[in-house]
Amino acid sequence: MYNVRNILDDLLYLGCSDRRLQLFESAYPVADGVSYNSYLLKDEKTVLFDTVDKVCACQFFKNLEYALDGKKLDYLVIHHMEPDHAALVSEVKRRYPEINIVCTAKALAMIKQFFDFDIDSCAQIVKEGDVLNTGKHELQFIMAPMVHWPEVMVTFDKTTGTLFSADAFGAFGAINGNLFDTDVNWERDYLDEARRYYTNIVGKYGLQVQMLLKKASNLDIKMICPLHGLIIKQNIKLFIEKYDK
Ligand SMILES: [Fe+2]
Ligand SMILES: [Fe+2]
Repeated sequence: MYNVRNILDDLLYLGCSDRRLQLFESAYPVADGVSYNSYLLKDEKTVLFDTVDKVCACQFFKNLEYALDGKKLDYLVIHHMEPDHAALVSEVKRRYPEINIVCTAKALAMIKQFFDFDIDSCAQIVKEGDVLNTGKHELQFIMAPMVHWPEVMVTFDKTTGTLFSADAFGAFGAINGNLFDTDVNWERDYLDEARRYYTNIVGKYGLQVQMLLKKASNLDIKMICPLHGLIIKQNIKLFIEKYDK
């Protein structure tokens, strides 16, 4: 059984919600669960953005197979190496051996520490401003070190104005069948958990967040796809203001 949702015609949500976890990072209570988000872009080339926590592996690979619908998987973009997103990287490589893995140099070093597959033969290292053309889409990579770990980057899809923001703009809480901020009363029911997530996970790197916000201010962002929580369409300006504050 699969659980795949369309975000745009050629962009699909493959993530999952974890309601069994008591403490996120063994420290922060998640009474309402947490989601691990992964996205698949189906352009002339196909691009998987991050994986999910191991707890959702079975669902994730069913989702991925269904979403690909027989197409080859060309790229895996790794924004963040924390295991809630990168635990399944080696399994993706095992199932899709022809894949190219796009990541930062720091992430490459971590992959070598975490896994024992031959990453050098399939790694495509990117740096600030590099662009990957996948057909209709132009993906620009933006470095975001220490938002939350040193290897982090985000991706801006220049074609659609979509920012794949890694841990930034995430929130605690299972998404309960919702997908977008417009599916909930965002300020009333969502913002508190986004604030608690920011405070506990990202907020201690305020300076680095400010650097990322400065770069983001030059982008025409129409949608934010984070690694946890809902996709933001309507509340982008307000969310960025809250981060700035
Ligand atoms: Fe993280
Ligand atoms: Fe995360």
